[in-house]
Amino acid sequence: VIAPRPHLQSAPPPVHGGPSGREDERLPARIDFSSSVNPWGPAEAVREAALAAPLDRYPDPEGLLARRAVAAACGRPLAEVTLGAGAAELLHFACFAYLAPGDTVLVPGPTFGEYARAAALCGARILHGMAPGPTLRIDTAVVAATVAERRPRLVFLCAPNNPTGQAFRRGGLGRVADACHGAGSLLVLDQAYDAFADEPLGTPALPGHPATLHLRSITKDHALAGVRAAYAVAPPAIIDTLDRVRPPWSVSAAAQAATVAALSPDGDAHLAATLPQIRRERERLEDAIADLGLRPVPTATHFLLVEVGPRRGVATAALLRARLLRDHGIKVRDCTSFGLPRHVRVATRTPAQNDELLRALEAVCST
Ligand SMILES: Cc1ncc(COP(=O)(O)O)c(C=O)c1O
Repeated sequence: VIAPRPHLQSAPPPVHGGPSGREDERLPARIDFSSSVNPWGPAEAVREAALAAPLDRYPDPEGLLARRAVAAACGRPLAEVTLGAGAAELLHFACFAYLAPGDTVLVPGPTFGEYARAAALCGARILHGMAPGPTLRIDTAVVAATVAERRPRLVFLCAPNNPTGQAFRRGGLGRVADACHGAGSLLVLDQAYDAFADEPLGTPALPGHPATLHLRSITKDHALAGVRAAYAVAPPAIIDTLDRVRPPWSVSAAAQAATVAALSPDGDAHLAATLPQIRRERERLEDAIADLGLRPVPTATHFLLVEVGPRRGVATAALLRARLLRDHGIKVRDCTSFGLPRHVRVATRTPAQNDELLRALEAVCST
């Protein structure tokens, strides 16, 4: 049998929250806290737009209407904007477009595993940063200094960061971006969770910066995980490059229509109505989880990383996840793949669902 390119073997497997095929058949989850999407679902107008998209015609390969909507929402020219079938597709494009085997990529972490995986698939060497515990905070001054010293081709930063919920100040991100510019690197700034931040920076966080590729998922804020919709904002030459590596029609008609609707006044109103409720519930969850004797890591967004303790009924994240799923039909994210085998990540969901999580945690931790 023909063998794939050698470095494909060394790339880590994809590990994500959310649906998980065969496991779901065995142990279906009633409530999923493992993927961090808006628990109130999409706006009705967004749902209708996606469902009304034509099935029998190819989508516009330029995605012109959706790109115009993104450009208007971001206050940037059309040439600085492109679309993706999710932010995951766009970050794979960035790696495919800019990395050759042996290139260095800086991935300060713990963070979203897809950055290192996409880079490894292109044969890049990954410089993993691991922020010191217990708050696991990434220091942008350290990242900027590492960029200047090691001159990686790409630098990935997730703002706010998955799984820690750490937010960054615009000034700190700007210093990393400037260091990238000085080193001939590109900063891939993933703003997938910006809408949920206590103080959103807006996308693009660094408008017009010559060495920054902003990624923005629509999956999370507008609960469109099944539709796959995202956009990128960057200087025109970078946007052209991403579009050059795109397979034709990668962004479906439904995703394009949903993007236009999500960025319309109806989409904005839905977000504005749901975000304060999500914020209140996150604060309630943080307090209640701490009251159970577990340790939530301070978060600035709607998901929280929780350290499980050896004194409780569950010693590892894998065990806690397994028991919550088996006994309560509740799925949380085991963070072992982030290098955190004693942490789980939970998304904020509706008040009733959060109550169920708290009851289940209490039951599991007291046995
Ligand atoms: C930080 C981060 N970026 C990107 C993605 C992927 O987003 P999308 O659904 O838009 O591909 C995820 C999904 O979990 C994520 O956590």
